[in-house]
Amino acid sequence: MAVLEVRGLTKHFEVRPSLLSRMLGDGGVRVIKAVEDVSFSIGEGEILGLAGESGCGKSTTCLLITRLLEPSAGEILFKGTPIHTLEGGDLARFRSKVQIIFQDPYESLNPRFTVFDLIAEGPRALGLWDAHETEERVLAMLASVGLPPQDYRARYPHEMSGGERQRVGIAAALVLEPELVVADEPLSMLDVSIRAGILDLLRGLSERLGFSCLYVSHDLSILSNIADRLMIMYLGMVAEIGSIEDVISAPRHPYANALVEAVPAPDPRYKRPIPKIHGDIARPVDPPPGCRFASRCPHAIDVCRVDPLPALVGVGDGHLAACHRLGELA
Ligand SMILES: Nc1ncnc2c1ncn2[C@@H]1O[C@H](COP(=O)(O)OP(=O)(O)OP(=O)(O)O)[C@@H](O)[C@H]1O
Ligand SMILES: [Mg+2]
Repeated sequence: MAVLEVRGLTKHFEVRPSLLSRMLGDGGVRVIKAVEDVSFSIGEGEILGLAGESGCGKSTTCLLITRLLEPSAGEILFKGTPIHTLEGGDLARFRSKVQIIFQDPYESLNPRFTVFDLIAEGPRALGLWDAHETEERVLAMLASVGLPPQDYRARYPHEMSGGERQRVGIAAALVLEPELVVADEPLSMLDVSIRAGILDLLRGLSERLGFSCLYVSHDLSILSNIADRLMIMYLGMVAEIGSIEDVISAPRHPYANALVEAVPAPDPRYKRPIPKIHGDIARPVDPPPGCRFASRCPHAIDVCRVDPLPALVGVGDGHLAACHRLGELA
């Protein structure tokens, strides 16, 4: 059974017009279609990478599957159980078994807590262990993320570097022994020099502790290092999903293709073609009908600009893409 199964997930935000727009007579409530009919699953121990440009709905998806945000439509099953029906003890168990690591470790850590208390906060709130076991587990977790407990347990967030803070964030998530970790760009605030270390750490811990993971990043080279499968979103819709090898070596959606082509080649003598994306970036506020990528797609024809969104279609073993012209472009 999949650890996480997401079906038809949709999130629309309603935004009220500003005072100025109302004075100018443009006063209707706008709908931001941040996530639209998104379906995917994550298997046991699997790392699913999620990529796509800014504003395409990656963080919204993360918040929805951790139940930090309510969906407008669709279903999210954690180990077969719909998460929106969870209450009481079941909800508390879900909250401990599904953990999120945020992009900015400074914002997500309480500045008045020591490192020890930051990591112990979750287990204490859930009443998981007695004081002795909590101490043992917190100190062991600190050591696992490469922070010697004797040096770090009494420090405050402002007394650490960004990389150290992110390690504390990872320790606070993993001390609860989650079955699913949602990592929303956990490296993007860090120096390139620290990223590789944290990435190795996460990969090592995922192998040792066996959790499943949704790992969000803009950076396909990071994802090809850590993920088993890759999902590419464009303005709220899933453009493509498949094994990391299939999507990187043979992307089928024109947007996925452009993303892959934009990754710097390892051999600097080899010049990749410049990705062919032109045209206006469509916005998720009242988006036009049809494929969300149509306004920038070099292959778009009339059919791409009419409803509905293209559906995900199988193009190989577990490899799916959502493009009206898949057959012709193959
Ligand atoms: N609470 C909210 N209210 C209104 N609109 C929102 C809200 N949260 C997100 N949005 C909008 O939804 C869309 C998707 O946002 P989201 O944060 O999921 O993007 P993202 O893919 O994580 O982008 P980034 O790579 O910049 O982090 C954006 O247009 C954003 O402005
Ligand atoms: Mg985001």
